[in-house]
Amino acid sequence: MADKVKVGIIGSRFEADIHAAAFRIMPEEAEVVAVASPTAGHAEALAQRYGIPRIFRDYREMLRERDIEMVTITAPNLFHAAMTVDIAGAGKHVVCEKPLCMTLEEAGLMIDTCRKKGVLLLYAEELFFTPKYVKAKEMADQGAFGKVYLVKQSEKHFGPHSAWFWDMERSGGGALMDLGCHGIAFCYWFLDRSPVKSVLCQMGTYVHGDKTRGEDNAVCILEFGNGAVGMVEDSWARRGGMDDRIEVYGEDGVAYANLLMGNALPAYSEHGYGYAVEKAPTTRGWSYPVFEELWNYGFPQEMRHFARCVRGKEEPAATGEDGQVVMEVLYAGYASAGRGEKINLPFRPDGVKKPIDLWHPE
Ligand SMILES: NC(=O)c1ccc[n+]([C@@H]2O[C@H](COP(=O)([O-])OP(=O)(O)OC[C@H]3O[C@@H](n4cnc5c(N)ncnc54)[C@H](O)[C@@H]3O)[C@@H](O)[C@H]2O)c1
Repeated sequence: MADKVKVGIIGSRFEADIHAAAFRIMPEEAEVVAVASPTAGHAEALAQRYGIPRIFRDYREMLRERDIEMVTITAPNLFHAAMTVDIAGAGKHVVCEKPLCMTLEEAGLMIDTCRKKGVLLLYAEELFFTPKYVKAKEMADQGAFGKVYLVKQSEKHFGPHSAWFWDMERSGGGALMDLGCHGIAFCYWFLDRSPVKSVLCQMGTYVHGDKTRGEDNAVCILEFGNGAVGMVEDSWARRGGMDDRIEVYGEDGVAYANLLMGNALPAYSEHGYGYAVEKAPTTRGWSYPVFEELWNYGFPQEMRHFARCVRGKEEPAATGEDGQVVMEVLYAGYASAGRGEKINLPFRPDGVKKPIDLWHPE
């Protein structure tokens, strides 16, 4: 078997670019050899930017390439489950972007199929690899804060870059599904995967009602089995670009981490310049350009880890099971907002097509 894990990417836009860049930043363990995407021109452009030799329209054709060992899914949420089943069926390891899928049934199917086929289902939650957040967890694990009773994570910006996010049929939900999946995973991971006992959630569509049925702001409180509380706040309605932060409160200490501002150089420009940071509305006036953006998020570290898992050098730190827990909490969150009450877990409603249906039936 070749030294480097050969990788194929499904999708060719925003997150595909991040995956390709991540493998380029840490190239020791893996190389991207193929990209598959249905829209003419996009796959070619990605391939050209990153020197990816093989291009496919249909990802199923890419799965016939014998040397590819790991395939990353960066397509809209609606397709994650079917793609995972196809990739596993071709005997290749799966890296699935967040959120894992649309339904709880799909989550079970994805996990079962990968297990039966003997391939890894790796859940692409980069916050498990975000250096600043990893440092906070290491400190908590060393007892820096005493017993942690509250963990917060929030991600906010003015809304996603592609039309499909706003279309609930393809995304499954709004800000909670898109961004809250990070916060839920983060709190669960930070608290050593203590089981989630209950979810209380409020959400609304405050500024983007003209373009989506999805919620553009959500506040979610999780109670964990170990007695700690998680608080997850997400927005597609926040002006001023991207905000991603955590807070950790313990009996004996506290820590705050602002992922982007803390890694930025405050700058003022009359003229503007090329690029500041994801979703920054402008580079004129005051802006906060971030250096080593992907590194600060942990994407290269995440992809390197996944490649090492394929080679058996490391145990998966982010799995389909993590994604499944997040899906259950998302379902409970939308149900909580819909009913106006706290939802206790386990919560496994049958036959619901997408999380948002529990808040906002069509
Ligand atoms: N981890 C993160 O922080 C993060 C950030 C952004 C997006 N994501 C996730 O990545 C996924 C993709 O999001 P994005 O921002 O790249 O969206 P995007 O709109 O920028 O790109 C979607 C890509 O999927 C392709 N695609 C659409 N239908 C397809 C199909 N049937 N078969 C194969 N490819 C298809 C499109 O051609 C496009 O290349 C989503 O699940 C999203 O939630 C994760």
